[in-house]
Amino acid sequence: MKAIIVTGAGTGLGKELSLLLAEQGYHLILTGRTVEKLNEVKEQIEKSGGSATAIQLDLRNLEDIKEKALLISKKHEIYSLVNNAGLGYFGPFSEISDTEIEEMFQTNVFGTINMTKAILPYLEQHNEGLVLNIVSTAGLRGKKNEAVYCSSKFAVRGFTESLQKEYEGTRIRFVAAYMGGMNTPFWNDSEHVADPTRLRSAAEVADIIIENLNKEEIVIESKKS
Ligand SMILES: NC(=O)c1ccc[n+]([C@@H]2O[C@H](COP(=O)([O-])OP(=O)(O)OC[C@H]3O[C@@H](n4cnc5c(N)ncnc54)[C@H](OP(=O)(O)O)[C@@H]3O)[C@@H](O)[C@H]2O)c1
Repeated sequence: MKAIIVTGAGTGLGKELSLLLAEQGYHLILTGRTVEKLNEVKEQIEKSGGSATAIQLDLRNLEDIKEKALLISKKHEIYSLVNNAGLGYFGPFSEISDTEIEEMFQTNVFGTINMTKAILPYLEQHNEGLVLNIVSTAGLRGKKNEAVYCSSKFAVRGFTESLQKEYEGTRIRFVAAYMGGMNTPFWNDSEHVADPTRLRSAAEVADIIIENLNKEEIVIESKKS
C-alpha cells in the first residue's frame, strides 16, 4: 500500500486532507508535535476502514526529520509528501518579535525544505511521486500586517516552482496550493481575523485541493464577505 506523509496532520487542513487521502486507499502517515491529535485522526481513519500511522515529528528539528524519514522509509513505500504544517504571527512589522520571525521561517520554510530533502530520495527510488506544498494566497501577494508570514510563503512558492522545473519530464510532481482564509485552529491565538467562522472550512478547501491535484498550481481565493 502506497503511503502519504502529511505534516501538521492533527488539525485543520492537514487533518481534512488526511481523511480524504485515506479514503482513496493510501496509508496515511500523520505527523505533528501533538500526538493526541494525531491519534484522534488515526482512529477516525481506521473507523472508516482506512489505515494510518501517527508519528511525532517537530519540523524545527532537522535531526528529528532525518530520523523519522528513515524510520518511515523502512516500513512504507512512500508515494507522497504533503507539506502542510505552518504557523503565522501577524501585526505591524515593527511589533513582530525575533522569536516569531524565527519560528515562522523554521516551520514554514525550513520545515518544508528539509522534509522535502529528506523524503525526495524515496520518491526518486520509484521515479514516481507527488509533493503537495500548502502555501497560501500570502504566497501570491504581499498583505498588510503579514510581512514575515508572506515572506515565508513566497519562499515556499519559489521552492515549489523551481522544483517543478527541475523535475520536469519525470514522474515526480510538485503541486502548490494557494488558499485564502480557512476556519481552523490557526487563528486560535490571533486577532488578525475578526471572525474566522466566516472563512471557508478546512474540509471544503481540502475537497477542492484533492479534486485539482492534476494541476501544478491550485488557487482558492477567499470567500467574498
Ligand atoms: N487557516 C488559514 O486561514 C490559512 C490560510 C492559508 C494557508 N494556511 C496554511 O495552511 C496550513 C495548515 O494550517 P491550518 O489552517 O490547518 O492551521 P492549524 O490547524 O493550526 O494546522 C497547522 C498544523 O501544523 C502543525 N505544526 C506547527 N508547527 C509544527 C512543527 N514545528 N512541527 C510539526 N508540525 C507543526 C500543528 O500541529 P502541532 O502544533 O501539534 O505540531 C498543526 O496541526 C499552514 O501551512 C498555513 O500556513 C492557513
